[in-house]
Amino acid sequence: MDKESPESIQLNKSVLLDALNGLRATTSRAALQRGIHELRGQIAARTRPLVAPESAEAVVFPRAYVLEELDQILAAQTLERARYYLERFMKSIAEVRTNPINDLNLNRWKEYEDIYTDSLWIIERRDSSGAHTADYWGNFIPQIPYQMLRRYTKKGEWVLDPFAGSGTTLIEAQRLGRNSIGIELQPQVAEWARRLIASEPNRHRVASEVVVGDSTCIDYHAILQRHGQRSVQLVIMHPPYFDIITFSADPRDLSNAASVESFLAQMGRAIDNVAPVLDAGRYLALVIGDKYAHGEWIPLGFLTMNEVLKRGFALKSIIVKNFEATTGKRSQKELWRYRALAGGFYIFKHEYIFVFRKR
Ligand SMILES: C[S@@+](CC[C@H](N)C(=O)[O-])C[C@H]1O[C@@H](n2cnc3c(N)ncnc32)[C@H](O)[C@@H]1O
Repeated sequence: MDKESPESIQLNKSVLLDALNGLRATTSRAALQRGIHELRGQIAARTRPLVAPESAEAVVFPRAYVLEELDQILAAQTLERARYYLERFMKSIAEVRTNPINDLNLNRWKEYEDIYTDSLWIIERRDSSGAHTADYWGNFIPQIPYQMLRRYTKKGEWVLDPFAGSGTTLIEAQRLGRNSIGIELQPQVAEWARRLIASEPNRHRVASEVVVGDSTCIDYHAILQRHGQRSVQLVIMHPPYFDIITFSADPRDLSNAASVESFLAQMGRAIDNVAPVLDAGRYLALVIGDKYAHGEWIPLGFLTMNEVLKRGFALKSIIVKNFEATTGKRSQKELWRYRALAGGFYIFKHEYIFVFRKR
């Protein structure tokens, strides 16, 4: 949260902490509650110096979070409990507790309402803001890289997308102040991605580079060296789902693999190639769906997951995300329903995000 909005409020940190500290010393619950009521009133009336949008000591809070914390103190049945909530609130203001892989302040974890922690993602609408577009058939929704970048990188770190397509990961990384490198086999798609990325403001002045190449054998060290880097802190892989969409006529394109086995072998090479440049302890996300052919469900997702596991990565999560048919397919909905009923199968409505940690 960067600035004040109708949902957020800027409070002067030391004024707030002084007020809370004073209340911590009170010896009666009634006095403490009176003080909290007063603070609540000052926030509602935007009274200075507590509410201080322009002060150097201003800290931005979600308004609902602050009010909830104060209400919890007010609702406490004993002085000890009220003090406990008060001290926890003070800690969330005074101390920043992050872990080594992201910038989320665990002392203010309640604020991160936009960060998913469940393994089932039902996302009704794709983010189509700024440079994001749904025009590249087979691109993923920006919410996927957004979630991965927020959970698994810090500002200023590096993310690598070996199947960059229209550059969704790079656009999102640029917005969030992460440096990014994308590899794309098709030169014209890479050029399109570059144009989209260039049209997105680069407020954090990060690097976002799309390189044309084959991610099964491209020299990542050489690319990183150009940026003075030796490694990346997150890899997001969104390969073709074998031949579900044919992306090009290039035989190196994974969507032209001759069989599931050769698709998996190519994926294995892409993982072998990228793994050495990912820092140990950091994350790799694989986004992929399954396939139906000759009357059988082919579990491409799990088969590809296994290729990563074979290379010693630890599996952290299997996320199931809803998958809505494109407008074209929607007209065929009835036909698919009939086919499913007649053929004894279920229609695809999901894809996977496998999250791994490099040991
Ligand atoms: C599923 S799309 C990725 C879409 C991307 N996530 C986006 O949001 O635009 C897969 C991409 O991988 C590319 N591709 C296929 N084989 C490749 C290879 N061997 N090396 C690099 N890119 C490849 C395709 O051209 C396609 O653009």
